[in-house]
Amino acid sequence: PYYGLSPPFYPTPVANGTSSSRWSSAYQHALALTSQMTLLELQNLTRGFPGPCVGNTGSIDRLSIPPLCFYDGPSGVRGQEFASAFPAGIHLAATWDADLMYRYGQAVGAEYRGKGVNIALGPLAGPLGRVAKGGRNWEGLGSDPYLAGVGMGRIVEGVQGEGVIATAKHFLLNEQEYRRRWGQDAPEGEGHAISANVGDRALREYVWPFMDALRAGAGAVMCGYNRANHSYVCQNSKLLNGVLKTELGFEGFVVTDWDAQMSGVASANAGADMVMPRDGFWGEKLIEAVKNGSVAEERLNDMATRVLAAWLYAGQDDGTYPPVGVAPGGQLPDPIDVQADHADLIREIGAAGTVLVKNVNGTLPLTQPKFLCIYGYDAIVKSTPWENPDRYGGGYDVNRGWTTFNGTLITGGGSGSSTPPYVVSPFEALSHRIRKDRGMLRWDFHSANPSQQYLNADACLVFINAYASEMSDRSALSDAFSDDLVLNIASWCSQTIAIVHSAGIRLVDPWISHPNVTAVLMAGLPGQESGNSLVDILYGDVNPSGRLPYTIAKKESDYGHLLNSSTGQEEGGDPFFPEDNFVEGLHIDYRFFDRHGISPRFEFGFGLSYTTFSYSDLQVYVSIAPGVMEETTMPSLAATRFAEFPDPDTPIIQGGHPDLWETLFVVRCRVENSGDKYEGREVVQLYVGIPASDEEEEDKETPVRQLRGFKRVGPLAPGEDGEAEFELTRRDLSVWDVEMQQWRLRRGKYKIWVGASSRDLRLSETFDI
Ligand code: NOJ
Repeated sequence: PYYGLSPPFYPTPVANGTSSSRWSSAYQHALALTSQMTLLELQNLTRGFPGPCVGNTGSIDRLSIPPLCFYDGPSGVRGQEFASAFPAGIHLAATWDADLMYRYGQAVGAEYRGKGVNIALGPLAGPLGRVAKGGRNWEGLGSDPYLAGVGMGRIVEGVQGEGVIATAKHFLLNEQEYRRRWGQDAPEGEGHAISANVGDRALREYVWPFMDALRAGAGAVMCGYNRANHSYVCQNSKLLNGVLKTELGFEGFVVTDWDAQMSGVASANAGADMVMPRDGFWGEKLIEAVKNGSVAEERLNDMATRVLAAWLYAGQDDGTYPPVGVAPGGQLPDPIDVQADHADLIREIGAAGTVLVKNVNGTLPLTQPKFLCIYGYDAIVKSTPWENPDRYGGGYDVNRGWTTFNGTLITGGGSGSSTPPYVVSPFEALSHRIRKDRGMLRWDFHSANPSQQYLNADACLVFINAYASEMSDRSALSDAFSDDLVLNIASWCSQTIAIVHSAGIRLVDPWISHPNVTAVLMAGLPGQESGNSLVDILYGDVNPSGRLPYTIAKKESDYGHLLNSSTGQEEGGDPFFPEDNFVEGLHIDYRFFDRHGISPRFEFGFGLSYTTFSYSDLQVYVSIAPGVMEETTMPSLAATRFAEFPDPDTPIIQGGHPDLWETLFVVRCRVENSGDKYEGREVVQLYVGIPASDEEEEDKETPVRQLRGFKRVGPLAPGEDGEAEFELTRRDLSVWDVEMQQWRLRRGKYKIWVGASSRDLRLSETFDI
């Protein structure tokens, strides 16, 4: 009902900590502090000041409240020394491993804490990846709300477990870089930010991963630069007061993206709680607005209380939180070493998120090769003097003024990049590895068409990449130079192994079917241990289990209107007010391909292993009483028990209605390593087909199938089997009912599939609700 319009939602709910006893005691304490504060002191907590961090709040010495330090995010502490460069979000998502996601959050959190940073500017699930060429998709956790949601929840748990406040960003619908904010890319620098126009039901899909972050206790949410349904999101009362603070019961504070605030009174009343990095339209003006009644004093109190409550909820007031490290001169970086043993985890995630998409003629794993040839600009840290007009490589160059053309890509560019203490390039790691077998390497990193020299080599490894950065969407999903490089080598080398580091989708069709291209690895953005992670996979020390967190199409046009960012001008829109209609509703990425019957090159969820797995014994259990599950041979049993809607009398807690997390069904199946040679892990995936509603025969608004569970099982030895168990919650099986403004179960036949990708479905079952 709200398409293109953002209905008013006032006033901002005053938070009071009802979500849990931990929030409640944080609120008692916070209120005791804010009740003693002057207006000046209250507003001090709602704005940024110059300081050592990317963002710094004001302090209140007489109440022992320190300035709070904010730092980017999301893949480690950016711009620091002796801090790790973790794999980017998209790489973590490609592991499909909830436990690794948690450990990632923990390690990142420990580094923030070690540096005395109070608030981490991550994790990120906006953009979600609607636009294939989106410049920041790599910072997020894949193009599916469920996968991203698990990631958001687990990372927040990990980060906050270390006592650091996590910031879920960017709320909401920040799906493209082009014209993402006022003035950017606009004629003469004048023009509004893109408006993401989205229907009420599809909106909840973009909210979904934020629900998980909130459920896990996220203390901060960052509102973005863009507009949504024609209203700037940092002053969009429907999104902030309505969705975030009412529907999802958010107890923490909303911080604006840097300089994203577009108004003073409107943003305050719409639910923003803090402006960064300076005073924006607030500061003295906010006090004036309170005095003249434009902003209620209660609102200012609530802003400051929310900030303090998040700080207290994280336990940062207990006197043990390290001070912000300040090097001589008063600026970060500081010399504190926070790396600990995180390199091991980085290496593990680097390998776990590497996706094998082609492997013929027994090419991989390499078995004691004696002679390897290495090609391509992406094999080494910095490959000068050859400079391609396009920027291939680096990713971390924005930090500290480094410029890295044509080097190996370990992360993307912009505020989400990292500052690696070192980079283990593929070439370096291969050099160390080949030495063990007393073998040899030959290389050529610069030539576009390396000459055919080494006919006795075991294999030719060719390294290419695809860069992306904040501030601009990508111009293409592949480049001719790199494609030609692979083809040139494959024209004479019969064992060509292509390795692709990429900040998101990278098309492979010009060479994927070439008979001499015998193995292909989508190696993502693995972080500082890049080469080591890769060698682990190439040599089979780790059997690949990574899966694509997005769809790789055969050609760009297969993504349809979801290929490029848009401004609505093609349809005659006003260039001053760019807008993009999310007409596809819930159908992004694989859901779009499934709905329109387009066959992708490699589907969402796809990835190969050095072994094979067989699936069996699919069983469905239904909840017959809270916490009591029974195997269902009578699926109709379920229908009688489950109400369509969550209980209207239950109070909302942070994350949304608690009933949404109630487990209604448990699904189990067995997977067996059916190979005879290699131990390995299998990512088992569960997809749900939600039935049409009573009134309709076919429901074209609901995706054909949606991911609703995944489990990385193993390691399993040849012949060994293991179990995958999935819990299906009320939310997993519901659709957003726009009339009732609530999640609703559908009466009818649900279909579930369990398999190895979104198209390699091995077992299926149905049940009725
Ligand atoms: C702008 C980016 O959009 C945001 O993600 C980041 O945290 C801030 N800059 C601070 O660097």
